[in-house]
Amino acid sequence: MPCTVIVGAFWGDEGKGKIISHLAIKDDLDFCVRTGSVNAAHTVWLKGKRYALHMVPASFINKKTRLLIAPGANVHVGKFFEEIKLTKVKTRIGVDKYASIIEEKHSIKDKTSAHLKGLGTTGWGVGPALEERARRTAKLAKDIAELEPYVTDVTEEINDGIDDGKNVLLEGTQGFMLSLFHGTYPFVTGRDTGASAICSEAGVGPTRVDDVIIVFKSFITRVGAGPLPGEITKEEAQKRGWFEKAAGTGRDRRSAPFDFELAKQNGRINGATQAALTKIDCVFPKSRSVRSYDKLPKEARMFVKKVEEKTELPVTLIGTGPDSLDIIDRRK
Ligand code: IMP
Ligand code: MG
Repeated sequence: MPCTVIVGAFWGDEGKGKIISHLAIKDDLDFCVRTGSVNAAHTVWLKGKRYALHMVPASFINKKTRLLIAPGANVHVGKFFEEIKLTKVKTRIGVDKYASIIEEKHSIKDKTSAHLKGLGTTGWGVGPALEERARRTAKLAKDIAELEPYVTDVTEEINDGIDDGKNVLLEGTQGFMLSLFHGTYPFVTGRDTGASAICSEAGVGPTRVDDVIIVFKSFITRVGAGPLPGEITKEEAQKRGWFEKAAGTGRDRRSAPFDFELAKQNGRINGATQAALTKIDCVFPKSRSVRSYDKLPKEARMFVKKVEEKTELPVTLIGTGPDSLDIIDRRK
Protein backbone atom coordinates (compact mmCIF):
# COMPACT_ATOMS: atom_id res chain seq x y z
CA MET A 1 0.00 0.00 0.00
CA PRO A 2 -0.85 2.87 -0.79
CA CYS A 3 -1.13 1.70 -4.44
CA THR A 4 -0.98 -2.04 -4.94
CA VAL A 5 -1.66 -4.15 -8.01
CA ILE A 6 -2.93 -7.73 -7.69
CA VAL A 7 -2.08 -9.89 -10.68
CA GLY A 8 -2.76 -13.58 -11.33
CA ALA A 9 0.36 -15.59 -12.19
CA PHE A 10 -0.99 -18.46 -14.25
CA TRP A 11 -4.31 -19.21 -16.03
CA GLY A 12 -6.60 -17.45 -13.55
CA ASP A 13 -8.35 -18.80 -10.47
CA GLU A 14 -5.26 -18.39 -8.33
CA GLY A 15 -7.36 -17.07 -5.44
CA LYS A 16 -7.10 -13.35 -6.08
CA GLY A 17 -10.56 -12.81 -4.55
CA LYS A 18 -9.44 -14.31 -1.29
CA ILE A 19 -6.22 -12.29 -1.14
CA ILE A 20 -8.07 -9.06 -1.97
CA SER A 21 -10.73 -9.66 0.66
CA HIS A 22 -8.00 -10.15 3.26
CA LEU A 23 -6.26 -6.93 2.23
CA ALA A 24 -9.60 -5.10 2.21
CA ILE A 25 -9.92 -5.65 5.94
CA LYS A 26 -6.30 -5.82 7.03
CA ASP A 27 -5.18 -2.70 5.16
CA ASP A 28 -8.55 -0.98 5.47
CA LEU A 29 -8.64 -0.26 1.73
CA ASP A 30 -10.00 3.12 0.69
CA PHE A 31 -10.39 2.21 -2.98
CA CYS A 32 -10.59 -1.03 -4.91
CA VAL A 33 -10.73 -0.87 -8.70
CA ARG A 34 -11.84 -3.84 -10.72
CA THR A 35 -10.48 -4.35 -14.23
CA GLY A 36 -11.46 -6.85 -16.94
CA SER A 37 -14.95 -8.14 -17.31
CA VAL A 38 -17.68 -10.55 -16.39
CA ASN A 39 -15.82 -13.66 -17.61
CA ALA A 40 -13.78 -13.72 -14.40
CA ALA A 41 -15.35 -14.79 -11.11
CA HIS A 42 -13.61 -13.81 -7.88
CA THR A 43 -14.55 -15.99 -4.97
CA VAL A 44 -14.94 -14.42 -1.54
CA TRP A 45 -16.08 -16.29 1.57
CA LEU A 46 -17.70 -14.23 4.28
CA LYS A 47 -19.29 -15.69 7.42
CA GLY A 48 -19.75 -19.07 5.75
CA LYS A 49 -21.33 -17.55 2.65
CA ARG A 50 -19.66 -17.84 -0.73
CA TYR A 51 -19.73 -14.99 -3.25
CA ALA A 52 -18.51 -15.52 -6.84
CA LEU A 53 -18.23 -11.95 -8.07
CA HIS A 54 -18.22 -11.11 -11.77
CA MET A 55 -18.47 -7.32 -11.49
CA VAL A 56 -18.29 -6.02 -7.93
CA PRO A 57 -14.71 -5.64 -6.61
CA ALA A 58 -13.69 -8.33 -4.13
CA SER A 59 -13.04 -5.85 -1.32
CA PHE A 60 -16.77 -5.23 -0.87
CA ILE A 61 -16.50 -6.93 2.52
CA ASN A 62 -14.95 -3.76 3.95
CA LYS A 63 -17.88 -1.35 4.24
CA LYS A 64 -15.58 1.65 3.99
CA THR A 65 -13.99 0.77 0.63
CA ARG A 66 -15.07 2.80 -2.38
CA LEU A 67 -15.62 0.22 -5.14
CA LEU A 68 -14.84 1.22 -8.70
CA ILE A 69 -14.95 -0.27 -12.18
CA ALA A 70 -12.09 0.83 -14.41
CA PRO A 71 -12.38 2.77 -17.67
CA GLY A 72 -10.72 -0.16 -19.44
CA ALA A 73 -13.27 -2.62 -18.06
CA ASN A 74 -16.32 -4.07 -19.80
CA VAL A 75 -19.55 -3.78 -17.82
CA HIS A 76 -22.32 -6.36 -17.93
CA VAL A 77 -25.23 -4.20 -16.81
CA GLY A 78 -27.47 -7.07 -15.65
CA LYS A 79 -24.74 -8.69 -13.55
CA PHE A 80 -23.72 -5.30 -12.17
CA PHE A 81 -27.19 -4.66 -10.73
CA GLU A 82 -27.63 -8.26 -9.57
CA GLU A 83 -24.37 -8.13 -7.62
CA ILE A 84 -24.99 -4.66 -6.18
CA LYS A 85 -28.15 -6.07 -4.65
CA LEU A 86 -26.41 -9.19 -3.42
CA THR A 87 -23.52 -7.31 -1.81
CA LYS A 88 -25.51 -4.22 -0.76
CA VAL A 89 -22.96 -1.74 -2.11
CA LYS A 90 -25.30 0.63 -3.94
CA THR A 91 -24.08 3.76 -2.17
CA ARG A 92 -20.36 3.15 -2.64
CA ILE A 93 -19.85 1.73 -6.08
CA GLY A 94 -18.94 3.70 -9.20
CA VAL A 95 -18.33 2.95 -12.87
CA ASP A 96 -16.00 4.96 -15.04
CA LYS A 97 -17.73 6.93 -17.77
CA TYR A 98 -15.54 5.27 -20.40
CA ALA A 99 -16.02 1.67 -19.32
CA SER A 100 -17.56 -0.18 -22.26
CA ILE A 101 -20.68 -2.30 -22.21
CA ILE A 102 -20.90 -6.01 -22.88
CA GLU A 103 -24.24 -7.01 -24.36
CA GLU A 104 -26.25 -10.13 -25.09
CA LYS A 105 -25.30 -9.92 -28.78
CA HIS A 106 -21.63 -10.29 -27.76
CA SER A 107 -22.38 -13.46 -25.86
CA ILE A 108 -24.23 -14.88 -28.87
CA LYS A 109 -21.27 -14.06 -31.12
CA ASP A 110 -18.89 -15.60 -28.60
CA LYS A 111 -20.80 -18.88 -28.78
CA THR A 112 -21.32 -18.93 -32.56
CA SER A 113 -18.28 -17.32 -34.23
CA ALA A 114 -16.14 -19.75 -36.19
CA HIS A 115 -12.89 -18.06 -35.19
CA LEU A 116 -13.60 -18.52 -31.48
CA LYS A 117 -14.61 -22.14 -31.81
CA GLY A 118 -12.28 -24.49 -29.99
CA LEU A 119 -10.79 -21.85 -27.69
CA GLY A 120 -13.11 -22.77 -24.85
CA THR A 121 -14.11 -19.19 -24.05
CA THR A 122 -16.43 -18.57 -21.12
CA GLY A 123 -19.20 -17.58 -23.53
CA TRP A 124 -19.88 -14.26 -21.80
CA GLY A 125 -18.96 -12.37 -24.96
CA VAL A 126 -15.82 -10.65 -23.80
CA GLY A 127 -13.89 -11.23 -27.04
CA PRO A 128 -16.65 -9.82 -29.29
CA ALA A 129 -17.24 -6.89 -26.87
CA LEU A 130 -13.56 -5.99 -27.06
CA GLU A 131 -13.59 -6.35 -30.84
CA GLU A 132 -16.43 -3.85 -30.87
CA ARG A 133 -14.56 -1.49 -28.61
CA ALA A 134 -11.52 -1.59 -30.89
CA ARG A 135 -13.83 -0.83 -33.81
CA ARG A 136 -15.02 2.22 -31.84
CA THR A 137 -18.66 1.31 -32.03
CA ALA A 138 -19.08 0.10 -28.43
CA LYS A 139 -21.56 1.63 -26.00
CA LEU A 140 -19.93 3.25 -23.01
CA ALA A 141 -21.19 3.49 -19.43
CA LYS A 142 -22.00 7.17 -19.90
CA ASP A 143 -24.48 6.24 -22.66
CA ILE A 144 -26.56 3.95 -20.43
CA ALA A 145 -29.38 5.71 -18.56
CA GLU A 146 -29.60 3.04 -15.82
CA LEU A 147 -25.93 3.53 -14.98
CA GLU A 148 -26.14 7.29 -14.65
CA PRO A 149 -26.26 7.37 -10.83
CA TYR A 150 -23.04 5.35 -10.74
CA VAL A 151 -21.02 7.01 -13.46
CA THR A 152 -17.86 8.71 -12.25
CA ASP A 153 -14.31 9.57 -13.26
CA VAL A 154 -12.49 6.59 -11.77
CA THR A 155 -9.06 7.72 -12.94
CA GLU A 156 -9.46 11.05 -11.20
CA GLU A 157 -10.86 9.50 -8.02
CA ILE A 158 -8.00 7.07 -7.62
CA ASN A 159 -5.22 9.45 -8.61
CA ASP A 160 -6.60 11.93 -6.06
CA GLY A 161 -6.66 9.05 -3.60
CA ILE A 162 -3.02 8.22 -4.30
CA ASP A 163 -2.09 11.91 -3.91
CA ASP A 164 -3.82 11.90 -0.52
CA GLY A 165 -1.96 8.77 0.63
CA LYS A 166 -5.07 6.59 0.59
CA ASN A 167 -4.87 2.82 0.20
CA VAL A 168 -5.71 1.93 -3.38
CA LEU A 169 -5.86 -1.58 -4.76
CA LEU A 170 -6.02 -2.38 -8.47
CA GLU A 171 -7.74 -5.71 -8.91
CA GLY A 172 -6.49 -7.75 -11.84
CA THR A 173 -8.66 -10.48 -13.29
CA GLN A 174 -7.78 -13.83 -14.89
CA GLY A 175 -4.08 -14.74 -15.08
CA PHE A 176 -0.96 -13.70 -16.94
CA MET A 177 -0.93 -16.83 -19.12
CA LEU A 178 -4.32 -15.78 -20.52
CA SER A 179 -2.88 -12.42 -21.63
CA LEU A 180 -3.52 -11.51 -25.24
CA PHE A 181 0.13 -10.41 -25.50
CA HIS A 182 2.02 -12.71 -23.15
CA GLY A 183 -0.11 -15.82 -22.85
CA THR A 184 -0.59 -19.05 -24.77
CA TYR A 185 -2.00 -17.38 -27.91
CA PRO A 186 -4.49 -18.06 -29.45
CA PHE A 187 -5.78 -19.79 -26.30
CA VAL A 188 -6.01 -16.53 -24.40
CA THR A 189 -8.58 -13.91 -23.49
CA GLY A 190 -9.20 -10.73 -25.48
CA ARG A 191 -6.96 -8.39 -23.46
CA ASP A 192 -3.65 -8.12 -21.71
CA THR A 193 -4.01 -9.35 -18.14
CA GLY A 194 -0.57 -8.30 -16.82
CA ALA A 195 0.25 -5.79 -14.09
CA SER A 196 1.01 -2.99 -16.58
CA ALA A 197 -2.30 -3.56 -18.32
CA ILE A 198 -4.14 -3.46 -15.00
CA CYS A 199 -2.61 -0.01 -14.40
CA SER A 200 -3.47 1.06 -17.92
CA GLU A 201 -7.09 -0.09 -17.61
CA ALA A 202 -7.46 1.80 -14.35
CA GLY A 203 -5.56 4.90 -15.46
CA VAL A 204 -2.62 4.80 -13.05
CA GLY A 205 0.89 5.50 -14.28
CA PRO A 206 3.60 2.91 -13.55
CA THR A 207 5.58 5.21 -11.25
CA ARG A 208 2.56 5.60 -8.96
CA VAL A 209 2.43 1.94 -8.02
CA ASP A 210 4.17 0.85 -4.81
CA ASP A 211 3.63 -2.89 -4.87
CA VAL A 212 2.74 -5.60 -7.33
CA ILE A 213 1.56 -8.76 -5.59
CA ILE A 214 1.59 -11.74 -7.91
CA VAL A 215 -0.77 -14.49 -6.85
CA PHE A 216 0.48 -18.05 -7.19
CA LYS A 217 -1.73 -21.00 -6.38
CA SER A 218 0.18 -23.96 -4.89
CA PHE A 219 -0.76 -25.99 -7.96
CA ILE A 220 -1.90 -24.79 -11.37
CA THR A 221 -5.32 -24.97 -12.99
CA ARG A 222 -6.71 -23.98 -16.34
CA VAL A 223 -10.21 -24.02 -17.84
CA GLY A 224 -10.81 -24.07 -21.57
CA ALA A 225 -8.46 -25.25 -24.30
CA GLY A 226 -4.74 -24.68 -24.77
CA PRO A 227 -1.44 -25.98 -23.43
CA LEU A 228 -0.95 -26.77 -19.76
CA PRO A 229 2.59 -28.03 -19.11
CA GLY A 230 2.73 -30.97 -16.69
CA GLU A 231 -1.03 -31.58 -16.87
CA ILE A 232 -2.27 -34.50 -14.78
CA THR A 233 -5.46 -36.52 -15.31
CA LYS A 234 -8.74 -35.65 -13.61
CA GLU A 235 -8.50 -38.88 -11.59
CA GLU A 236 -5.02 -37.96 -10.38
CA ALA A 237 -6.19 -34.42 -9.56
CA GLN A 238 -9.07 -35.82 -7.52
CA LYS A 239 -6.67 -38.12 -5.67
CA ARG A 240 -4.39 -35.20 -4.83
CA GLY A 241 -7.28 -32.94 -3.76
CA TRP A 242 -6.60 -30.49 -6.58
CA PHE A 243 -9.72 -31.04 -8.60
CA GLU A 244 -11.76 -27.85 -8.98
CA LYS A 245 -14.73 -26.58 -10.91
CA ALA A 246 -14.78 -23.05 -12.36
CA ALA A 247 -16.48 -20.51 -10.08
CA GLY A 248 -18.05 -18.74 -13.05
CA THR A 249 -18.98 -21.40 -15.59
CA GLY A 250 -18.97 -24.59 -13.50
CA ARG A 251 -16.63 -26.28 -15.98
CA ASP A 252 -14.01 -28.78 -14.78
CA ARG A 253 -10.62 -27.16 -14.25
CA ARG A 254 -7.61 -28.99 -15.62
CA SER A 255 -4.63 -29.14 -13.29
CA ALA A 256 -0.85 -29.41 -13.09
CA PRO A 257 1.82 -29.15 -10.41
CA PHE A 258 3.36 -25.80 -9.48
CA ASP A 259 5.78 -24.56 -12.16
CA PHE A 260 8.76 -22.78 -10.58
CA GLU A 261 10.23 -21.61 -13.89
CA LEU A 262 6.96 -20.08 -15.05
CA ALA A 263 6.45 -18.50 -11.65
CA LYS A 264 9.87 -16.88 -11.83
CA GLN A 265 9.40 -15.63 -15.36
CA ASN A 266 5.94 -14.19 -14.68
CA GLY A 267 7.04 -12.56 -11.44
CA ARG A 268 9.75 -10.82 -13.38
CA ILE A 269 7.67 -9.68 -16.36
CA ASN A 270 4.98 -8.32 -14.06
CA GLY A 271 7.51 -6.48 -11.91
CA ALA A 272 6.22 -8.27 -8.83
CA THR A 273 7.54 -7.05 -5.48
CA GLN A 274 5.85 -9.76 -3.42
CA ALA A 275 4.06 -13.05 -3.93
CA ALA A 276 0.94 -14.55 -2.42
CA LEU A 277 0.74 -18.34 -2.33
CA THR A 278 -2.78 -19.70 -2.05
CA LYS A 279 -4.30 -23.10 -1.33
CA ILE A 280 -1.23 -24.49 0.38
CA ASP A 281 -3.64 -26.69 2.36
CA CYS A 282 -4.58 -28.51 -0.86
CA VAL A 283 -0.98 -29.65 -1.27
CA PHE A 284 -0.13 -30.01 2.42
CA PRO A 285 -3.43 -30.85 4.18
CA LYS A 286 -1.96 -30.31 7.65
CA SER A 287 -1.69 -26.62 6.74
CA ARG A 288 -5.47 -26.25 6.83
CA SER A 289 -6.60 -23.05 8.57
CA VAL A 290 -3.13 -22.48 10.08
CA ARG A 291 -2.72 -18.77 10.78
CA SER A 292 0.93 -18.44 11.74
CA TYR A 293 3.99 -19.40 9.73
CA ASP A 294 5.66 -21.28 12.57
CA LYS A 295 2.67 -23.61 12.83
CA LEU A 296 2.86 -24.71 9.20
CA PRO A 297 4.09 -28.29 8.76
CA LYS A 298 7.75 -28.54 7.80
CA GLU A 299 7.08 -29.69 4.21
CA ALA A 300 4.83 -26.68 3.63
CA ARG A 301 7.50 -24.32 4.96
CA MET A 302 10.04 -25.99 2.67
CA PHE A 303 7.73 -25.45 -0.28
CA VAL A 304 7.34 -21.77 0.60
CA LYS A 305 11.12 -21.44 0.87
CA LYS A 306 11.60 -23.10 -2.49
CA VAL A 307 9.09 -20.73 -4.12
CA GLU A 308 10.97 -17.80 -2.61
CA GLU A 309 14.35 -19.08 -3.74
CA LYS A 310 13.27 -19.95 -7.27
CA THR A 311 11.23 -16.79 -7.92
CA GLU A 312 13.44 -14.43 -5.92
CA LEU A 313 10.27 -12.97 -4.39
CA PRO A 314 9.19 -12.86 -0.77
CA VAL A 315 6.06 -14.93 -0.17
CA THR A 316 4.24 -12.52 2.11
CA LEU A 317 0.72 -13.98 2.09
CA ILE A 318 -0.11 -17.68 2.38
CA GLY A 319 -3.64 -18.98 1.95
CA THR A 320 -4.50 -21.96 4.15
CA GLY A 321 -8.25 -22.34 3.57
CA PRO A 322 -11.27 -20.71 1.93
CA ASP A 323 -12.24 -18.26 4.70
CA SER A 324 -10.75 -14.78 4.35
CA LEU A 325 -9.21 -15.32 7.82
CA ASP A 326 -7.47 -18.52 6.70
CA ILE A 327 -4.30 -16.69 5.83
CA ILE A 328 -0.78 -16.11 7.09
CA ASP A 329 0.24 -12.50 6.63
CA ARG A 330 4.03 -12.13 6.82
CA ARG A 331 4.20 -8.51 5.68
CA LYS A 332 6.02 -6.17 8.02
P1 IMP B 1 -12.82 -15.55 -22.74
O1 IMP B 1 -12.05 -14.69 -21.80
O2 IMP B 1 -14.21 -15.84 -22.26
O3 IMP B 1 -12.76 -15.05 -24.14
O4 IMP B 1 -12.08 -16.98 -22.75
C1 IMP B 1 -10.76 -17.15 -23.25
C2 IMP B 1 -9.98 -18.13 -22.40
O5 IMP B 1 -9.75 -17.55 -21.12
C3 IMP B 1 -10.70 -19.46 -22.13
O6 IMP B 1 -9.72 -20.47 -22.05
C4 IMP B 1 -11.33 -19.24 -20.77
O7 IMP B 1 -11.55 -20.45 -20.09
C5 IMP B 1 -10.26 -18.41 -20.10
N1 IMP B 1 -10.79 -17.55 -19.03
C6 IMP B 1 -11.46 -16.39 -19.16
N2 IMP B 1 -11.75 -15.87 -17.96
C7 IMP B 1 -11.23 -16.70 -17.04
C8 IMP B 1 -11.18 -16.69 -15.62
O8 IMP B 1 -11.66 -15.79 -14.95
N3 IMP B 1 -10.56 -17.73 -15.02
C9 IMP B 1 -9.99 -18.72 -15.75
N4 IMP B 1 -10.01 -18.78 -17.06
C10 IMP B 1 -10.63 -17.78 -17.72
MG1 MG C 1 -12.02 -17.20 -11.16
